[in-house]
Amino acid sequence: MSVRRLARAEIQPATFAFTEENERWLAAQVAKYPDGRQASAVIPALWQAQKQHDGWLPKPAIEAVAARLGMPIIRVMEVATFYTMFNLEPVGRWFIQLCGTVPCHVKGALDLKQVLLEKVGDQQHVTPDGNFSWLEVECLGACCNAPMVQINDDYYEDLTPDLLIGLLADLAEGRTVKPGPQNGRRSSEPLDAVKTLQDPALFDGSLVGGWRKRFDAAASAVPADGARDASGPGDPKAAKPDAGRAIERPVADAPAQRAQNGEAPIKPAEQAQASDPGKTSVVDPAPPAPAQPPQSSKSYVATPSKPEDGRVAAGSLGTTPISGAPGQGGPGRRDGSDTKPVGADPNASPGVAPKEGR
Ligand code: FES
Repeated sequence: MSVRRLARAEIQPATFAFTEENERWLAAQVAKYPDGRQASAVIPALWQAQKQHDGWLPKPAIEAVAARLGMPIIRVMEVATFYTMFNLEPVGRWFIQLCGTVPCHVKGALDLKQVLLEKVGDQQHVTPDGNFSWLEVECLGACCNAPMVQINDDYYEDLTPDLLIGLLADLAEGRTVKPGPQNGRRSSEPLDAVKTLQDPALFDGSLVGGWRKRFDAAASAVPADGARDASGPGDPKAAKPDAGRAIERPVADAPAQRAQNGEAPIKPAEQAQASDPGKTSVVDPAPPAPAQPPQSSKSYVATPSKPEDGRVAAGSLGTTPISGAPGQGGPGRRDGSDTKPVGADPNASPGVAPKEGR
């Protein structure tokens, strides 16, 4: 995590103003938002100010953006100091952001960091010729091509220490460099060989609508009389053999079954008894449930909001029982004071039996 502070006062410019071209660009950005919402353009405004000022944001630029968007300076300062995309100190002509997050780390980012320390110096320091500065940042979203760096606006991926050294030399000498993977692979394709998506039919359009053709072919195989082909698409297979179908099973109590099992046939008198309703146990129907009072849809009991709705009013006896007084709530209510033994001395010491006859 980098420290986010404004640059030293002595390197801050005295003023900042957008160029005419950038002012026009900014007006177009602000116009994208409704009236009164021009603060929504604060990030593009800061970004353009940074680009105009050699890749870093001086304090006067932050103040100029605040004035242009009608925002308190502190609000713009909060944005500028929060996002690492805004550089608060001068950067080199080639500003290198090294990804140090786990995928890049395990693929050799530490080796790249060592190269930068040796060739460029400490983080956030510009080389004496003004060409380079660097900063370690979090994932830049090119993990498939780890390890990688971002230099100004471009990504350089699949790096090794030697490739990075060569890249820095080319930039310093003004030679053209090619962004993207530096090891020859295209995009984030497999490194050694393309092993997937190689069927030409995937790309010549011949598979478009293939499912429809198969469906139509199966439908045309149905005979004109409506009888279905057993293997046709409209003949669903049951999940179980008897699912939803009538299955013939031997009747367990049939005479033939009983004879086969060596059992005596059931006599007609036993059959008549079995079917006689008078011999059948009858269960009385359950008594009807008592009528319930109407239920509130609320799952709680409302608390009275007025004192007179169930609360003790000032000056009244209220509902708190007074020791020794008769119960307030009728015969069913007791507060325990009436359990005191009759004749007990209220001043007696605990554990001392009351004297008789007092
Ligand atoms: S971890 Fe390095 S680009 Fe994602």
